[in-house]
Order: sequence, then structure tokens, then C-alpha cells
Amino acid sequence: MKILIATEKPFASEAVEGIKQVIENAGFELAILEKYTQKSELLKAAETANAIIIRSDIIDAEVFDAAKELKIVVRAGAGYDNVDLAAATAHNVVVMNTPGQNSNAVAELALSLMVYAARNFFDGTSGTELLGKKLGIHAYGNVGRNVARIAKGFGMDIYAYDAFCPAEVMEKDGIKVCASAEELYKTCQYVSLHIPATAETKNSINAALLGLMPKKAVLVNTARKEVINEAELAKILEERPDFKYVTDIMPGNDAELKEKFPKRYFTTPKKMGAQTAEANNNAGIAAANQIADFFKTGNTKFKVN
Ligand code: 3PG
Repeated sequence: MKILIATEKPFASEAVEGIKQVIENAGFELAILEKYTQKSELLKAAETANAIIIRSDIIDAEVFDAAKELKIVVRAGAGYDNVDLAAATAHNVVVMNTPGQNSNAVAELALSLMVYAARNFFDGTSGTELLGKKLGIHAYGNVGRNVARIAKGFGMDIYAYDAFCPAEVMEKDGIKVCASAEELYKTCQYVSLHIPATAETKNSINAALLGLMPKKAVLVNTARKEVINEAELAKILEERPDFKYVTDIMPGNDAELKEKFPKRYFTTPKKMGAQTAEANNNAGIAAANQIADFFKTGNTKFKVN
């Protein structure tokens, strides 16, 4: 059985070592394709793989066509919008993710982006504190819950809106529950996005929502670029000199935003929310264990297609 790690953005080396141990202990063989720059490299490596471990790597119909021996793809992470699920199903390939395994890392980055914005991008001028400020968590999943836990330590006043999570779950954590996204954006100076990119959420963070945010608004995006209506965000930044956008996913209009709003817009150069040794270990080893379990016992617990 051949298991391929295909990561354009590699795991920490200790995570690769951990994955290798799990795969070899299961009696399987490990192949590694890291930092590839051409899709053809991925297609070639996938040809003989029975399983593939990926991160944000694009796995589309062409990859499934090339990977004749493929039975399972595990996205070591949360979001699987990079995998064509319909094509996977059509090729009888199981797709899984590893929910929760990298969420603390992403949450820590979200809070650091808030501090960075509050302290005027560390430019030496007098900034503000997070203590007592209203934080709106948009979607109370694994990352949202970790953001809430850490934000409590900062003494923030925490609100959340989640269309699917029962209010009792949030209330139990001491979070104030909003009945709509509008209420969350209207109430909170800081909003942290933790929604997946789906047909419903794409482009959904628009001027109508952002325009509701109170004075000195800060929008934090460690989720996906696709959920933002980028043209309308640029319009809000133009209209509101008090509005800041800090993100871990470079927008399509990065050059424009950089030029026009250098003191109110920041992006990491490459998505790094889950780029910690711990998150790589957790997600990578979970992916390897899920694959070993799938081949040995047929377990499909984390199947998403
Ligand atoms: C996720 O969905 O798990 C995060 O966005 C991390 O993605 P990455 O593995 O590409 O860093």
C-alpha cells in the first residue's frame, strides 16, 4: 500500500517523521512530494498512490483521473473546499478531513492579528487594548471555540453567531449569542471569521454586513479569502478611515489594498494559521492514523463525501 504526502506547503519535518512512523508501523510505504510547483508533478506522484495526505493542495477531477489506484484522500486540516468531492465520489474515492487538529494554531494567529491591528501594525504609535472590547466570532466551530477560550484571557466581551451550532453550546461557554450575522456585526468592534468556503458563504461578507460594524472596526480573516466580497471590502475601507482588515489569506486585490491602505490592511504572505509544529503533528499524524484505520478496518468516521 503506497501512501503519498503531497504538500505544496510542507509539514514541519518532525510531523513528516511522525506520519512516516504511523505508515510504516501499519506495514505501508510512504512517498513524499513537497514544495511542488507544477501540477504535472502532483499528477505523476498520484499515479501509483493508494492514499494521499494533503493540505490546501488542489485535488480536482484531473488528479482523480490520473490516480488509478487511489482509495482515500485525507485533508490534514479542517477546510476541504480544495477537493472536488463530486469527482472523488464519481471515482469511488473517500475524502476525509481531520477536524479540530490544527484549530488552536489558527486561533492563536487570529488573536495575534487582533493585537497587531490594535497596536497600529507595531508602528510605534499609541494603540489600544483588547481588554473589554467586543469580539464577534462568526461561526462557533473548532477554531471559533479556541478563539473564544483565548479571547477570555484577554478579557474581551465575547459574542458569537453560528447558523448551525445550538445556542446552549455557546451559552455554556459564557458566550453571548447573536441571532443573526447582522446582529453580530452591528454589536462587535472586532469580528473574527471562522466560516468555511461553501456555495452559501462565498462573497457573503459584503458591504451590507461590514457597514454595520461600530467605529474602529477590525475584521480578522483566518478562514478563507472566498468568503469576502473583495470589491465591497475595498469600498468599505475607502469610505471608512476607521476600518481595518487583517487577514491570513491574501486577497485577489492585495496590490490595490496595500497601496491605498498600508496602515489599515495587512496580509500574511502565505497562509500560516496552521503552520506550527504542533498543528502539523496533530493533523498529519491524525491523517496517517485515519488512513491506516480505513485500510485495516474500513473506518470512515471523518468522511466528508
Ligand atoms: C485548514 O483548513 O485546516 C486551514 O485553513 C489550514 O490550511 P493549511 O493546511 O493549508 O495551512
